[in-house]
Amino acid sequence: SMIPVILAGGKGERFWPLSRRARPKQFLCLDRTGKSLLQATADRLLDVAGGWQGLWVITSAELSDGVREQLPELPPENLLAEPQGRDTAPAVAWTTLEIAKRHGDDALIGFFPADHWIGDREGFKNTLEAASQLANSQRAIVTLGIEPTYPSSGYGYIEQGQGAGTYAGISAYRVNRFTEKPDRETAETFIETGKYTWNSGMFIFRAGVVIDELRAYAPEILDPIAERGVAAYADLPKKSIDYALMEKTHLTYVLPADFGWDDLGDWNALERLLKDDDCPNVEVARHLGLDTKGSIFYASNPEEAIVTIGLEDVVVVRDGNVTLIVKKERTQDIKKVLQSLKERP
Ligand code: GDD
Ligand code: MG
Repeated sequence: SMIPVILAGGKGERFWPLSRRARPKQFLCLDRTGKSLLQATADRLLDVAGGWQGLWVITSAELSDGVREQLPELPPENLLAEPQGRDTAPAVAWTTLEIAKRHGDDALIGFFPADHWIGDREGFKNTLEAASQLANSQRAIVTLGIEPTYPSSGYGYIEQGQGAGTYAGISAYRVNRFTEKPDRETAETFIETGKYTWNSGMFIFRAGVVIDELRAYAPEILDPIAERGVAAYADLPKKSIDYALMEKTHLTYVLPADFGWDDLGDWNALERLLKDDDCPNVEVARHLGLDTKGSIFYASNPEEAIVTIGLEDVVVVRDGNVTLIVKKERTQDIKKVLQSLKERP
């Protein structure tokens, strides 16, 4: 069976002020289920993992107490804490080496982001079954491709190549090229060809395959960790697995992922997640609006009321002693504000 690993060391700043240093996006409960994104991710992977013993999480030392709190049943030996955030390539390298030590080079591993929304759980499980069969039968790094809806420059793009057989009823393809976060114009040309999907950020492979590929294409990351383990971290470059490996390896395959997916990039995602057609706004708050529409309201404290008059297309978030009010089209700029808040004495 597969050993799923949750990548849970990111910051998720665009959900500020709800996301704070010690409480990044993956720890938040954005919908009304009462579960955080991390808890929901673990939940949907438990079957595949065959229970908590089979599930791993890698996060930063700073967040590891939070992960333990949120996932009390996770065995402590399956939680890796990175002393410094070095992006996902070191995280994948270290975890894969550790799993290979414990379970051998043929161990089947899946990496999963901690902060995504997935609609159809059964469809998701079936796609993972197909990915497992494919990765067990080939030297393959399996990706799951999402049908693109607009020329985003925030995703990796996967160019589909030749057919590569059918697994669990799903057609697999070779990948000609992987391009991480192209600019908008390039993304437009990709989408026009009809051959590209978005990289979902999930990867499935056997440990030995990725160790060999990292040794070939990212020795500056693999070798120090293989030699010195976690002690190597301070000297590692900051690089994501997409740039370090996926743009370079020739072993990539893609399976179409049609299970309903959203990467919850910023506050606007709440609209896709929670929009109720009977309400002119998305409200996770006691909101009273006069002539207010197309807006998103979120309050951490359900007792607090938000009252608006004559507003359109804004996001209002109340959390602790902070109120954020931003035009929907400017939510990407929250990162900039945080930067200037840091610089202020
Ligand atoms: N352990 C650990 N350490 N986890 C990390 C680190 C780190 O240093 N940095 C990020 N992560 C976690 C995040 O918490 C998230 O769950 C996952 O790794 C992916 O990182 P992001 O920073 O969210 O990546 P991205 O969204 O810019 O891009 C990736 O995901 C896209 C899909 O959402 C890429 O794989 C793209 O190609 C892909 O399209
Ligand atoms: Mg992301």
